Amino acid sequence: MNHIFSLIDKLEREHSLSLSEYEYLISNRTDETAQYIAEKAVRIRKSIYSNKVYIRGLIEISNICKNDCLYCGIRCSNHTCDRYRLSPEQILQCCYDGYKLGFRTFVMQGGEDPYFTDELLCELIGNIKKAYPDCAVTLSLGERDRASYQRLFDAGADRYLLRHETADTLHYSKLHPKELTLANRMRCLRDLKDIGFQTGCGFMVGSPYQTPRYIAEDLQFIEQFKPDMCGIGPFIPHKDTPFRDYPAGSVDFTCYLLSIIRLLHPPVLLPATTALGTLEPNGREKGILSGANVVMPNLSPTDVRSKYMLYNNKLSSGGESAQHIKELADRMEAIGYQIAMTRGDIKL
Ligand code: 5AD
Repeated sequence: MNHIFSLIDKLEREHSLSLSEYEYLISNRTDETAQYIAEKAVRIRKSIYSNKVYIRGLIEISNICKNDCLYCGIRCSNHTCDRYRLSPEQILQCCYDGYKLGFRTFVMQGGEDPYFTDELLCELIGNIKKAYPDCAVTLSLGERDRASYQRLFDAGADRYLLRHETADTLHYSKLHPKELTLANRMRCLRDLKDIGFQTGCGFMVGSPYQTPRYIAEDLQFIEQFKPDMCGIGPFIPHKDTPFRDYPAGSVDFTCYLLSIIRLLHPPVLLPATTALGTLEPNGREKGILSGANVVMPNLSPTDVRSKYMLYNNKLSSGGESAQHIKELADRMEAIGYQIAMTRGDIKL
């Protein structure tokens, strides 16, 4: 019992643990230890970011994807998915709307849709940066080759989100079709960082076949990679995927991991994800109170939101919607936090 508290103290002091220490921490969570680590995580997060919560406008630019990841509702073999892609004009309109609402970061996320060539994206990024030079552009468009990432960076993109999904090769192969490899995912992440993007990795909590050992590997990878952002959220089954019958991950366990990640890499930008808010009405608040400091409201055109269904019942209305930023602000204020209308870069 005392061992786990001393491990948490060590993590706070040294920002590092061994694989077996992480595994112990993960396997021995209690309400008491979760509260103990959350308090430390909140304290360290406040020492760097005070009580500010950064907001990002999330634009889901396409649900067309050439990949067939077993967990994902927009996998190419899901023929019940109603496919769409936004035109560059529609995306610019989202930025226009978002800018007026106060957003200073736009995240363009989508499936791996071959329509979005380097040429098209570079022109789009250039146009967004020209119209809104005070805004950050974040891309979340999957695996591309290094030259492509370089072109997107040179066109003005600031950040790139690419979850590693799991840092274990065997686990990776159970979640993905054989064309996708952990080695290539890691190659992408290294290229992105090397090129100069603020880079985000991350993983799902409670994904099928996940073990404490695998999560320990994720934490060690994060400790070594030192990402600028880290997206972690509970796995939620999607009814038209092979993982339809697997249980969802837990909100409380996700929050525990948010606290651990805050302690092992204090400056990281850590979102309280949509998946967290989908499982529990106050899931995002719980995330913030565990050490998260970012939320990403939905800025996609309202008529496509229900089509970007990565998992069952994914939220896109209410406090999840960029248009309801006031509701989000009120909810954050109710727990002692303030949304920040700035780019919200990492403070290193
Ligand atoms: N449950 C939770 N998260 C999911 N993602 C994809 N499918 C699911 C699911 N069923 C996450 C992946 C991906 C991100 C965009 O969404 O981690 O990287």
